[in-house]
Amino acid sequence: MNYNIAVIHGDGIGPEVVEETLLVLNAIGEKYGHTFQYTPVLAGGCAIDETGDCLPQETIDVCKKSDAVLLGAVGGWKWDTLPGEKRPEMALLGLRKELGLFANLRPAILFDELMDACPLKPEIVAGGLDIAVVRELTGGIYFGEKGRKETPLGTAGYDIKQYAVDEVKRIAKIAFDMAIKRNNHVTSVDKANVLESSRVWREVVNEVAKDYPSVTLDHLYVDNAAMQLVREPKQFDVILTGNMFGDILSDEASMITGSIGMLPSASLATGNFGMYEPIHGSAPDIAGQNKANPMATILSASMMLRYTFGLQEEADCIENAVKSVLKAGYRTPDLYQSDKEADILVGTKEAGAHIVAAIKA
Ligand code: IPM
Ligand code: MG
Repeated sequence: MNYNIAVIHGDGIGPEVVEETLLVLNAIGEKYGHTFQYTPVLAGGCAIDETGDCLPQETIDVCKKSDAVLLGAVGGWKWDTLPGEKRPEMALLGLRKELGLFANLRPAILFDELMDACPLKPEIVAGGLDIAVVRELTGGIYFGEKGRKETPLGTAGYDIKQYAVDEVKRIAKIAFDMAIKRNNHVTSVDKANVLESSRVWREVVNEVAKDYPSVTLDHLYVDNAAMQLVREPKQFDVILTGNMFGDILSDEASMITGSIGMLPSASLATGNFGMYEPIHGSAPDIAGQNKANPMATILSASMMLRYTFGLQEEADCIENAVKSVLKAGYRTPDLYQSDKEADILVGTKEAGAHIVAAIKA
């Protein structure tokens, strides 16, 4: 089969991790007889530099015409002083909105091989962790009305958080559908003791749950959820939450799995279309130094094969290749422990090349 992928290299370490990922996809194509065609497009800081716009219309058009989008990372110090609506990060929000990517899947898996990179005590994570964060991605406070106004205490900035029934329903369904393929447990995270938007959220989630009698549903307030994630992470199967809480909790979940450099994500629209990106940022401090871990982006490509193209065997092949490379001891600097004899320090390119070799083996 022939698949068209819009590729956004982006800023910072984005180009490096994406390049390795394309080599991995090429290896999969060769092995299984697929052709992946890449159309590079601009978004983020590099798009601002070249076109003055963080998300040029052409990028949106190419993405819409493609079967899927692969994205590295956007943003960096260089553009930090731009006003809010002109920042590179707005490209991400714009892409999510324009492409209808309302469901963000962020699996947090602690690989056996990385057990000792996990900052939690071994007894807390014994047997591994496998948590799926399902984050609503096109609503909530990130997309509500925002502005500034004068108040007696001076100028105030405001951002409105709002969730409508149908918005909650569609993301809740994704979480429940996922739970029945996993361990039949959804934890919905909100702040219903304070926020009206969370009360609506909770009512709708309870309604949707009625269609999934085999799934156990519980609700946690976000502050408690943040605490439970480090106290007893094994209690979680699927975490269902809104845009901002999901943003925060998915970073936390990533760290308890060893490194944010390992975690992929899928942002899905209705149907099979999706945008795939690592959950880490552009890490300008290590950009261009062959230090970034490409695994999160490579695993994002594996999610693309699984969710958008329905290529399960090929997706498994990438995941197994990553695991075998970790097993062999290869570690990028984010994972490397100098006191561990088995650890072999590698750069971005070497990590990618080992994964390609494992796929071909
Ligand atoms: C993420 C990022 C983005 C978000 C930023 C860069 C806009 O933190 O994908 O988690 O908040 O969604
Ligand atoms: Mg984030």
